Amino acid sequence: MEADGREIVTIEGLAQGDTLHPLQKAFVDYGAVQCGFCTPGMILAAKALLDRHPNPSEEEIRRGISGNLCRCTGYVKIVEAIQAAAKMLAS
Ligand code: FES
Repeated sequence: MEADGREIVTIEGLAQGDTLHPLQKAFVDYGAVQCGFCTPGMILAAKALLDRHPNPSEEEIRRGISGNLCRCTGYVKIVEAIQAAAKMLAS
């Protein structure tokens, strides 16, 4: 009910055809995807964060993805990927 009348973007909706969104590309490039179970939630949480805060600090990134658990990466590569995507989106 909270989403009633709102636009919903899924992980599949981020890419433009065969072109990955900068966050998707950065997750691949930085090894932030291992088993992939957490990846859709991480990327969509990161997109929501970057939409609100285009240049977040590491602490803000960690807070922004805090609702998602990753059992594989230790979060370092995920944070690095989000930082890289933020730079790509800003240029
Ligand atoms: S990549 Fe496996 S849970 Fe995050």
